Amino acid sequence: MMDKINWLKKEKNAVILAHYYVPDDVQEIADYVGDSFYLSKIAKDTDAKIIVFCGVAFMGESAAIMNPEKKVLMPDKAADCAMAHMVDYQKIDKLRAEYDDIAVVCYINSTAEVKACADVCVTSANAIKVVKALPNQNIYFIPDGNLGSYVKEQVPEKNVILNEGYCPIHAAMTKQEVLDAKQKYPKAKFLVHPECKKEVLAEADYIGSTSGIIDYVSKDDGNEYIIGTEIGVCYELKKQNPEKSFYTLRQPPICADMKMITLEKVLDVLEHETNVVKVPDKMRKSALRPLERMLELAK
Ligand code: 13P
Ligand code: SF4
Repeated sequence: MMDKINWLKKEKNAVILAHYYVPDDVQEIADYVGDSFYLSKIAKDTDAKIIVFCGVAFMGESAAIMNPEKKVLMPDKAADCAMAHMVDYQKIDKLRAEYDDIAVVCYINSTAEVKACADVCVTSANAIKVVKALPNQNIYFIPDGNLGSYVKEQVPEKNVILNEGYCPIHAAMTKQEVLDAKQKYPKAKFLVHPECKKEVLAEADYIGSTSGIIDYVSKDDGNEYIIGTEIGVCYELKKQNPEKSFYTLRQPPICADMKMITLEKVLDVLEHETNVVKVPDKMRKSALRPLERMLELAK
């Protein structure tokens, strides 16, 4: 199956992008594996004619928004991010009416419709930098309340208003689970994604995006780590650091939607060029602006 995918990739001038949360064999077949920020930059700059996006809906949608002339294929169109929909449009209107200078800052984990209402997008890798760089004093951070609260703490000079969205996988991690893991592995450092709750972030030795966590381990001189994000990142962590040990919490966080992406589905969409991502042109243009502004401000 891998040989067939590789052959079709060359034949059709296609590129395969994969997020760290998809199954190991799909990461293995990908041309580029990374966090949301890295993948959005690759999607913008690629010369390939076809992009097969191994991830959830908002990722393929962002690639399609930035590449209207390319075919973006999703191995499974039903793979979605629950948080991407957790937005109250009326609250956006209300806050825009209330504050003259408000900037609606939209986490990339959001639908095209949500992005179209925003001033700028961010990912977990650049949210602090982008919010600091904005001229606005008042910020409405959507949809993730946990990442928003982390940004608010890191940028105290701004008035960051929070939304109540959350990632069901990251928000399910508890402080007690972290304390239990620390007791079991006393030498291990705790590395965590900012989509986790505040009380979990408070226990961290490092807080960052999936790529941030992987980079941290590669540069760090420690040997043991408790990983506070979806278990898919452990594949790259072990690949880059075979001599180090990685532990998960008692209930390892698994994003079922990311796990819907299989090699069979990658082969199928590549072969038949099905599951093309389509974003209506008006919405595409409105959603493109905040994505481009993110790429500019995060440089
Ligand atoms: P990263 O951008 O850190 O890879 O995170 C994406 C994501 O969906 C986290 O749950
Ligand atoms: Fe969305 Fe959470 Fe899955 Fe990331 S882990 S894609 S935020 S549901």
